[in-house]
Amino acid sequence: MLNGKQKDIELDPARVPRHVAIIMDGNGRWAKKRMLPRIAGHKQGMDNVRTITRAASDLGVKVLTLYAFSTENWKRPEGEVSYLMSLPVTFFNKFVPELIEQNVKVMIMGDTSMLPASTQKACADAVADTANNTGMVLNFALNYGGRDELVRAAQKLVQRANDGDLQAADVQASDIDAALMTAPLGELADPDLLIRTSGEERISNFLLWQIAYSELVFTDRLWPDFSPDDLKAAFADFAGRDRRFGGIKK
Ligand code: FPP
Repeated sequence: MLNGKQKDIELDPARVPRHVAIIMDGNGRWAKKRMLPRIAGHKQGMDNVRTITRAASDLGVKVLTLYAFSTENWKRPEGEVSYLMSLPVTFFNKFVPELIEQNVKVMIMGDTSMLPASTQKACADAVADTANNTGMVLNFALNYGGRDELVRAAQKLVQRANDGDLQAADVQASDIDAALMTAPLGELADPDLLIRTSGEERISNFLLWQIAYSELVFTDRLWPDFSPDDLKAAFADFAGRDRRFGGIKK
């Protein structure tokens, strides 16, 4: 668990995680501490997406995957859900020019067909407007759930079997990789580092298959307060880890 103020951290560029996934938790508590409505926390959280996107891109991250709305978040009060649904519209309207300037490519992962039409359009436009960018991929998980993703992958594999394209005994891990929503990320599909803010130490149905060998960093910082220095501190922690992927130290 990372805590406290981190300053003047030197990072070895060779040990910066290539794919970073973040569970952006604590917006509600951030607002409550200030006697503000929960949506004020989400607004601040959205502004912090801009800050952390820029910081991650500047530090050399290749893919930043952000858990923006889970398949379980529909259980929240209607007003909060509709506010969360409006955030991609606001965010992309405001920041796509900046993302283009930073050469960031937007990707969306999740069942977007259930999102309001305006949210779907904002997402599709952002993806199209940044499609030719070659820098960091900013991958939003929207109406995403790890189990939902695995169910859909199983359906695809069964379909392939029904079509005579795949035999049960021949199913490989790579077939599952190819059927997941992260498939477009290719060799970068699995996060090197997963960060969760706000002190909770759970995975909450995020990237269940892909985090098999991810390093996990939990921090007390609430998402709207999570700063570029906190990101660097998480990277420094990551850089000190000994990743063996089930093998032994070389
Ligand atoms: C969890 O905090 C946060 C969410 C469910 C929403 C996360 C969304 C953002 C940070 C903004 C997304 C921005 C874009 C551009 C799509 P919580 O509300 O559960 O906090 P709490 O646990 O303190 O109540």
